[in-house]
Amino acid sequence: MPPPRRLLLPVLLLLLIPSAIAGVPDRYTVRRSRLGVRTGNSSLSGQEYLDPTYPVPRPPAAASPTCVVPVLTHSFGDTYGAPPAKAAYAPPPDCPAPWSLVSLSFSVAVAGDQYDRVAAVWLDGVELLRTTTAEPVPGGVRWTVRRDVTRYASLLRAPPSGVLSVMLENLVNDEFTGVYNVSVSFEFHGAPAYLSDAAGSGSASSSSSATATATPTLPKSYLEPADLILPVSDPAGESTGGFWFRLQNASHAGSRLVTVPSNAYRAVLEVFVSPHADDEFWYSNPPDIYIRENNLSTARGNAAYREVVAAVDRRFAGSLVPFPVVYTGGVNPLFWQPVAALGAFHLPSYDLELTPFLGLLADGKAHEVALTVVDAIAEWRVDANLHLWLDPNASDVAAAMGPYRTPRLIRAKRKARFSGWVSSSFGNFTTEVETELETSSVVEFADQGRNKTVRFQAERESEVVIRAAGTRKEVGKVETEAKFPMLLRTVTEDGENGTSVVRANLTHSITVETSAEAEGLFERESKLADEQTAAGWMLVRGHDVVNGSAATTSVYRYSDDAGRYERAIDARDGSILSDNVTESYQAVTAKRSSVAAM
Ligand SMILES: *[C@@H]1O[C@H](CO)[C@@H](O)[C@H](O)[C@H]1NC(C)=O
Ligand SMILES: *[C@@H]1O[C@H](CO)[C@@H](O)[C@H](O)[C@H]1NC(C)=O
Ligand SMILES: *[C@@H]1O[C@H](CO)[C@@H](O)[C@H](O)[C@H]1NC(C)=O
Ligand SMILES: *[C@@H]1O[C@H](CO)[C@@H](O)[C@H](O)[C@H]1NC(C)=O
Ligand SMILES: *[C@@H]1O[C@H](CO)[C@@H](O)[C@H](O)[C@H]1NC(C)=O
Ligand SMILES: *[C@@H]1O[C@H](CO)[C@@H](O)[C@H](O)[C@H]1NC(C)=O
Ligand SMILES: *[C@@H]1O[C@H](CO)[C@@H](O)[C@H](O)[C@H]1NC(C)=O
Ligand SMILES: *[C@@H]1O[C@H](CO)[C@@H](O)[C@H](O)[C@H]1NC(C)=O
Ligand SMILES: *[C@@H]1O[C@H](CO)[C@@H](O)[C@H](O)[C@H]1NC(C)=O
Ligand SMILES: *[C@@H]1O[C@H](CO)[C@@H](O)[C@H](O)[C@H]1NC(C)=O
Ligand SMILES: *[C@@H]1O[C@H](CO)[C@@H](O)[C@H](O)[C@H]1NC(C)=O
Repeated sequence: MPPPRRLLLPVLLLLLIPSAIAGVPDRYTVRRSRLGVRTGNSSLSGQEYLDPTYPVPRPPAAASPTCVVPVLTHSFGDTYGAPPAKAAYAPPPDCPAPWSLVSLSFSVAVAGDQYDRVAAVWLDGVELLRTTTAEPVPGGVRWTVRRDVTRYASLLRAPPSGVLSVMLENLVNDEFTGVYNVSVSFEFHGAPAYLSDAAGSGSASSSSSATATATPTLPKSYLEPADLILPVSDPAGESTGGFWFRLQNASHAGSRLVTVPSNAYRAVLEVFVSPHADDEFWYSNPPDIYIRENNLSTARGNAAYREVVAAVDRRFAGSLVPFPVVYTGGVNPLFWQPVAALGAFHLPSYDLELTPFLGLLADGKAHEVALTVVDAIAEWRVDANLHLWLDPNASDVAAAMGPYRTPRLIRAKRKARFSGWVSSSFGNFTTEVETELETSSVVEFADQGRNKTVRFQAERESEVVIRAAGTRKEVGKVETEAKFPMLLRTVTEDGENGTSVVRANLTHSITVETSAEAEGLFERESKLADEQTAAGWMLVRGHDVVNGSAATTSVYRYSDDAGRYERAIDARDGSILSDNVTESYQAVTAKRSSVAAM
């Protein structure tokens, strides 16, 4: 365990501020066509925007068969309240499972004026991607988001209905003309013959495991893609605008009944989340008392802390503080041309280990899995996927939870501990989960609110230890440590004719370190460090940016046992000044770990 760190609690320095400025940071758009102004480089037209957050999926093994399956093409015009776009999906006959790699491509082209918008892709209600859009220029921009979706292999191999849905909520009128043209495809890479041993079924390595005397070891399948994935999303969304739950407040829960097969021996809940409207900038919201005492009219209150909580049958089962993603219209839209903010094109998903709850869940009966957001203001879009691993040799496993203590939120710190045992054909294993969340957030106003500083940091440490039940010997362990610091300073000055000049400096980053080991099978380590620094000014009238200049530097570093990938991008006023990629991969191995999950 790393040494204890000092605990900072949310603090706000309360000074009088004019209400017009209370909203900074805010959401803006650059409507070049209407205002007839040019900010940045006119060569943005036709330009490809860049996603600096995750590397493209790793190159597939040489000589592996490859199939590209286009699934959906759709133009998202005025889509508020409309059902998602749908298309039929079937696995490729020419590239049958097992696959060494599957990637999803989400490509967008848009021209005109438009705000940033949120979108998601679901397969039979299971979310595969949460993304937001770039703001276009009249001549048009385009980009592609690629996500490694190998962890959904069981669903991709045998989807219950094979309906792929995409929702991109957009508003088109005389002013906002941008229509988003989206196409979605999958790329399948088979396992080449020389790797086919590695792609074999999971139970092989623990053949002698279930005997009473020897200490069992984890099956290989334990850290491979799940056997079954159940949606924890809103089934009504098929006809009403997408499968995400739209949470309006802290007491509003998004929940779904799930029936977990009684032979499940491992469970992980993967949570997707994006904040919108009055909570888009939750990490900079003042507390309500401050809003009242200053007679402000803003609806952005409840202070600067949010936490997504998962519950199983109304019991706390895990939680996360989301990475504060800045969408492409946020803070200063000129920062995000043509390099999107961290996570904006590919919002992180968050894994919560639910194996200790299988004693409750795996009885073949329906159970409620619910998602809520602490202190939420409308609107949060959340849903989740329940990944389940099934015992191939038994129709039932025996399981029970250990002692359970409801962890309380102590200001901005929460420590949760669960344990439970599951006895399957692989043996009797106890899973102990310990998670610690720590968040500090300081929002300072000075100079009557014209100067605003946000210092935010969230940290999440989780440790999952798997022990052989009899001897308590440790047979597997996964440790993850994630940090999301953000520093944002804005200075606002009055300009001419009701305009204002906003200068902003932003530094934010994601670091995620993971180590996983399973006795006799493998040991893996990975490290992701992704950082952006942006600085610039803009002249705004209302929500329109009418002039400005900005520079953004983005540095991405990822390494694991199989290789390393680094990318450093320098952009200024819409142009890429340099884009340096360094990558090296060792001879391909069958194992990969998903970067997207934290
Ligand atoms: C979007 O698709 C429509 C219809 O195919 C096409 O007319 C339009 O030019 C496309 N827009 C962009 C920006 O490619
Ligand atoms: C499961 O059954 C197969 C086939 O009968 C056998 O080869 C394998 O060892 C069994 N695995 C376990 C963990 O019992
Ligand atoms: C929270 O939102 C739900 C759903 O819109 C609503 O029914 C409920 O009344 C709200 N609760 C509070 C306390 O505002
Ligand atoms: C808020 O409004 C009340 C009533 O109109 C007034 O007495 C008070 O001075 C105002 N406070 C501030 C900070 O403007
Ligand atoms: C506000 O920011 C400006 C520009 O950075 C600086 O000159 C000024 O001293 C700041 N005011 C306060 C009260 O911190
Ligand atoms: C599994 O191990 C736990 C903890 O040691 C024990 O309480 C339980 O009875 C065992 N279950 C089975 C089915 O052996
Ligand atoms: C201010 O607005 C008026 C009326 O819209 C316009 O005539 C004038 O040119 C503007 N001045 C500047 C400096 O933009
Ligand atoms: C942003 O950073 C630059 C360079 O470090 C500095 O000169 C400027 O005052 C900063 N602006 C704000 C609003 O903090
Ligand atoms: C934008 O600002 C720059 C720098 O202040 C200035 O030179 C330019 O004329 C401005 N452009 C417009 C369209 O106002
Ligand atoms: C990319 O490499 C060039 C040449 O070494 C260097 O000048 C530039 O600063 C690098 N760019 C970034 C963003 O690191
Ligand atoms: C605009 O971008 C292009 C291509 O990135 C570059 O060659 C050109 O110098 C840029 N112009 C300005 C004014 O920045």
